[in-house]
Amino acid sequence: MTQTFTPRVFSGIQPSGGLTLGNYLGAIKRFVDMQDDGHFETVYCMVDLHAITVWQNPENLRRNTRELCAGFIAAGIDPEKSILFNQSQVPEHAQLAWIFNCVARMGWMKRMTQWKDKAGKNSENASLGLFGYPALMAADILIYHATHVPVGEDQKQHLELTRDIAAKFNNDFGIEFFPITEPVIEGVATRVMSLRDGLKKMSKSDPSDMSRLNMTDDADAIVKKIKKAKTDSDPLPDHLEGLDGRPEARNLVNIYAALNDATTQSVIDEFSGQLFGGFKPKLAELAVEKLAPISSEMSRLMEDTSEIDKILIRGAERGRELAAPILQKTYDIVGMLR
Ligand code: AMP
Ligand code: TRP
Repeated sequence: MTQTFTPRVFSGIQPSGGLTLGNYLGAIKRFVDMQDDGHFETVYCMVDLHAITVWQNPENLRRNTRELCAGFIAAGIDPEKSILFNQSQVPEHAQLAWIFNCVARMGWMKRMTQWKDKAGKNSENASLGLFGYPALMAADILIYHATHVPVGEDQKQHLELTRDIAAKFNNDFGIEFFPITEPVIEGVATRVMSLRDGLKKMSKSDPSDMSRLNMTDDADAIVKKIKKAKTDSDPLPDHLEGLDGRPEARNLVNIYAALNDATTQSVIDEFSGQLFGGFKPKLAELAVEKLAPISSEMSRLMEDTSEIDKILIRGAERGRELAAPILQKTYDIVGMLR
């Protein structure tokens, strides 16, 4: 018998400080689109348990969790329409993760490129949590029986592992209990690149602040960073292939398209033949129009965080309502007596 699952979206972001344009275009903006699409139930989470797989100063962690929540809301996540909360407050995530630690194999984990990148040569000294991180991520998704997970390109391998864990659990216990989740890695901005190097991902951990737009940047900072962004001296091409081998040019065109809900082709059609000296001010204007209201709403929400705290408490209650019965059913399947 094939079980049918409610169309449900889950995604998470780590509250480890600083939200970039990459997080916005690659994740949050798409979360808002899926919320407003009306086809899905949407569950969005600040994954604080994931954040502590590397050291977090407790005071900063609290602040960053609230700031991330403010970012979600300022960007258009409606806490009535979506379930919005921080991971640690729905303990079923960690409980299911334990079960999945016993399903996933060491070899699967060792192959994760994010583990290899983050642990590096010093893997003996990395936390056990960092190694097990993808099993917790699978639990985040599957504790809601989520069917769709919007993420950026860098999370693709973790989502494949989530599918493997679901399939192995279903197979081990001979029951089709967990859905085989679909990754949603779509759109022109699933990989926003650094403004200083078109071959590097835009990241909050890049030492140069000029390499990224932060969601908290004001209009002046946005304009300055786009003006200084690395480009080449050729005009914009008249067809897409003309961006091949021009990673910085492609990145700026993609950013323009994503901010404007347009395709790369339509941006090319509009600007072909123009030099970056002409294109950049247009991009800066668009970026300010779209991002400055988000950053000012974020600062407003951060002035008095009691509203955010209330939203998180209510979100966690709603999360638990969905998660608790699925955990109980999982325990029953595994053979835990109650
Ligand atoms: P992180 O900040 O690494 O926890 O990422 C949160 C979400 O933002 C994930 O879905 C990532 O895939 C996405 N993301 C982070 N950086 C980028 C980027 N440069 N381009 C596109 N998506 C990104
Ligand atoms: N690993 C994701 C990241 O670093 C964050 C994350 C945790 C997540 N759990 C998730 C994303 C579940 C999607 C679904 O970006």
